[in-house]
Amino acid sequence: MYAEKIKDYTIKKDAVILAIESSCDETAASVIKGGRKILSSEIMSSCLEHVRFGGVVPEIASRAHTTAISLVVEKAIKSANITLSDIDAVAVTYGSGLLGALLVGVSYAKTLAYSLGVPLIPVSHIRGHLSAAYLENEDLKPPFISLLASGGHTAIIVVKDYDDYQILGGTLDDAVGEAFDKVARVLGLSYPGGPNVENLARQGANAVKLPKMLKGEGGYNFSYSGLKTAVINYVHGKDQKGEVVNKADVAHSFQCSALDILIEKTILATKEYGVSTVTAGGGVVANGYLRENLTCACQKAGVKLVLPPKWLCTDNAAMIGAEGYIQYQKGNFADLSLNAVARINFK
Ligand SMILES: Nc1ncnc2c1ncn2[C@@H]1O[C@H](COP(=O)(O)OP(=O)(O)O)[C@@H](O)[C@H]1O
Ligand SMILES: [Mg+2]
Repeated sequence: MYAEKIKDYTIKKDAVILAIESSCDETAASVIKGGRKILSSEIMSSCLEHVRFGGVVPEIASRAHTTAISLVVEKAIKSANITLSDIDAVAVTYGSGLLGALLVGVSYAKTLAYSLGVPLIPVSHIRGHLSAAYLENEDLKPPFISLLASGGHTAIIVVKDYDDYQILGGTLDDAVGEAFDKVARVLGLSYPGGPNVENLARQGANAVKLPKMLKGEGGYNFSYSGLKTAVINYVHGKDQKGEVVNKADVAHSFQCSALDILIEKTILATKEYGVSTVTAGGGVVANGYLRENLTCACQKAGVKLVLPPKWLCTDNAAMIGAEGYIQYQKGNFADLSLNAVARINFK
């Protein structure tokens, strides 16, 4: 019955999409109109419950989602000033992420789509991060170069069309956010590592010599494992000799090495592919050093930068609504057999 109903569905340009995100420790819901206008965005996080374990504990995250999801969805509908009957489609992150956590959002979205008789749109979390830029600038249109820097991914992408991506290169080992989290741990900083490394780095200088990152020979690829190991060896070496480690200098030096290369290769891609707009997405793009230096580099290179605000770079449901709208326009609907997937290919 549901499948029959959806088959005859007429796609609307100004569709109101309710989006749900539950891939990690944030339970989020958002209402997006016409793919670009944020009517509401609500987030509840179980982040503090994970601090004493030094990282996200999947079972704790899943349980938190089960108690938060109804509240968050209700709040999103209320603050968007709409009613359930105004919802034209339900978009949901189905991967990548923690399986149990994803399942809470997917089950909720399925039930809601079924009961309202509207399409269910499966969204890739990573594509969501890239689509956050559409919410920052209503006029943004492909082609553009997108820098993706998150906890699980690092890549430079040519976005040729709304649904046509060419990945120029990515990480050969650790993702940049993962490197931040591991360096945070060795510096004795608590979870979440990225923002804590950034805060400490502000008090330090680029004074610790760290190995060079993959430059020209790596094409658009990155490697963070060597840099991470160098930081670990440096700190342990100093400890063993009983010398004091200037942790702020280590954080600052690491941050420069880890992020300068992302900016350099992004600008290079604009030149090689003759593209005059840059966007960025993913949790690491909330980093102030990256934001400032990417802004300067784009100005210098004469390219336009569309940089989503920090809250749209870290996990949220608005970006899932933006990407959901692209899939909605293409009629990429799921049936009720939709399942959560821990790892999905970017494509
Ligand atoms: N200010 C920051 N500086 C550096 N890294 C950050 C900052 N804020 C968040 N991060 C990093 O972003 C990552 C989480 O981003 P996210 O986009 O949610 O990852 P994913 O979607 O791949 O799981 C974590 O590794 C975190 O440390
Ligand atoms: Mg994310």
